Amino acid sequence: MVRYLEQVEMDTVLSLSKRRGFMFQSSDIYGGLNATWDYGPLGVELKRNVKETWWGSVVRERDDMVGLDAAILMHPRVWEVSGHVQNFADPLVECKVCHQRFRADDLEDASGCPACGGELTDPRTFNLMFKTFMGAVEDSASQVYMRPETAQGIFVNLANVLVASRRKLPFGIAQIGKAFRNEITPGNSTFRTREFEQMEIEYFVKPGTDEAHLDSWVEERFSWYVKHGIRKENLRLRRHGDDELAHYARDCYDIEYRFPWGWAELEGVANRTDYDLRSHGEASGHDLRYFDEEAKEHYYPYVIEPSGGVDRAALAFLLDAYEEEPDPSSAKGETRVVLRFHRKMAPIKASVLPLSRNEKLAPTARAIHELVRPHLATQYDDAQSIGRRYRRQDEIGTPFCVTVDFQTLEDRAVTVRDRDTMSQLRVPVADLVSILKDKLEHGW
Ligand code: GLY
Repeated sequence: MVRYLEQVEMDTVLSLSKRRGFMFQSSDIYGGLNATWDYGPLGVELKRNVKETWWGSVVRERDDMVGLDAAILMHPRVWEVSGHVQNFADPLVECKVCHQRFRADDLEDASGCPACGGELTDPRTFNLMFKTFMGAVEDSASQVYMRPETAQGIFVNLANVLVASRRKLPFGIAQIGKAFRNEITPGNSTFRTREFEQMEIEYFVKPGTDEAHLDSWVEERFSWYVKHGIRKENLRLRRHGDDELAHYARDCYDIEYRFPWGWAELEGVANRTDYDLRSHGEASGHDLRYFDEEAKEHYYPYVIEPSGGVDRAALAFLLDAYEEEPDPSSAKGETRVVLRFHRKMAPIKASVLPLSRNEKLAPTARAIHELVRPHLATQYDDAQSIGRRYRRQDEIGTPFCVTVDFQTLEDRAVTVRDRDTMSQLRVPVADLVSILKDKLEHGW
């Protein structure tokens, strides 16, 4: 029987993830830093694939989008004017006995501490922005914030980008970068962390067309996850209630994934109206209105914002890829663990495996690896039996294994094995790179 995600414990995937080098607890040798994670050799490839695939879809393949990479530290006025100093806060309660802190709105029963039953303080507002100091003097004049969203870097650069790129509405700016939130209750591995990476789009539209653009971005972003391997039944859309909308949003849909602990947000697609541009325009004294040449009028564009979490997406791609099934090649009824990543997400695209460590095979196998590696993320593996090596590659989701055998020395051909069907194809070494590229693009 095949075991899919919903039957698999989170711990099973986290243990594979640590053992095979996807994610490690940060500062592990010092006992770890709460809710902070490092990506290992395979995790960094997965995360880069998520970002590159997103960038390809929303920037390179569209005429109406450009990219930006703004600084993490911004002028403190940005966060006053954006409303974050005032509004970006959660209600915090503290246990008077054990001093653990909780989000008041997360507690099912606010009459006592969920950890020890002790009395809780009244809720107080806790701003989620990290503060630090710029320069040698640590006083309030030198205080700056670690950005809690990348979006503001886009808003304050809109005029620069418009002039430089000569764009007309509707058009958007995309950015990937780190953001920081001093979450009261982080957790669930890389799902909620205090340091995380966002992939955000601010899409500027004429007021009045915003609702149609919101609908089309919701559909586009939902399909992106399905196209790149997430099972549709593990995704859903949820519209925000009035009481949960962010201070800048008029409307918002969450694209949620069915994580092992329940449905939770992968990406929010919000209608931010002209809230940010109007606020920055009025506070900075710079005219951030757009001149519409056709309508011959100035106005503040409305903004549709698809805002996704890179770490959350990587975790969802990893969880959704996980499967266990009976190993068809095992006489002892062993289990095959396979990460069925979409080809674009797989950390390693092809592995070169000499049939054995026989010294006659090694130079040819190494030469074939050298031929392939400039084009794709590859591994070379010659340790243990070929069956074990196939299983190792299945477990990290490598779509294709290239086996070099004694026949290769005669006919200059290799066997390519497909991870999912386990079927095999004999191909000339001269065509190997183009065949692998074609199969990575179009599938087996
Ligand atoms: N920019 C939206 C968010 O960070 O949630």
